[in-house]
Amino acid sequence: EKKIGENSEITADLVRGGFPYLEQKIRECRNCALSETVTNKVISKGSNSPKVVFIGEAPGKNEDETGIPFCGRAGKLLDKFIEYMGLKDDEWAVINTLKCRPPANRTPTKKEIETCRPFMETQLELMKPKIIILLGNTAEKAYGEKLEWGESKIDESGTHIVKIFHPAALIYQRSREAEQYAYLDKYRYLWEEES
Ligand code: URA
Repeated sequence: EKKIGENSEITADLVRGGFPYLEQKIRECRNCALSETVTNKVISKGSNSPKVVFIGEAPGKNEDETGIPFCGRAGKLLDKFIEYMGLKDDEWAVINTLKCRPPANRTPTKKEIETCRPFMETQLELMKPKIIILLGNTAEKAYGEKLEWGESKIDESGTHIVKIFHPAALIYQRSREAEQYAYLDKYRYLWEEES
């Protein structure tokens, strides 16, 4: 399986064009059938040069309606994590593995993740975060690094990768919330370090 950083030609072209070109390409994209049923493509929120990037799964109903990632119930919980982490407004960004909402919020297929991956790869290339926080299994799959819950590693580009629970999963399993905050405490030194 390919890892992030092993740039395809598509990604290299997108990186050369910068954010406006990337956005245009995402909005024009018809590379899979998901594009036929969406209201809005959902690209990112937060800083263009963040210290920390959170990677979610895919847009849900609210995100599809507004074009803004994590603007619903799961987003409220993610906001709580960001506040708990003590990140300033210019220190974080939120993106998804898919830019289109899967019908009825089903889990993205492997094919959809692969098709959409150059967009995520390009976002990461342009944002150059120090830390990437994978929110759940889909983000882990898309990023291509195997991690346990609450585990971290440094990838080939020197970026710290951390895998934590997806906030939507915690809505249904509130008992795991303490574990999530323990992970955030454990890695606090990463984002609190002076850069
Ligand atoms: N869940 C996600 O994974 N992403 C969103 O943008 C919203 C909910």
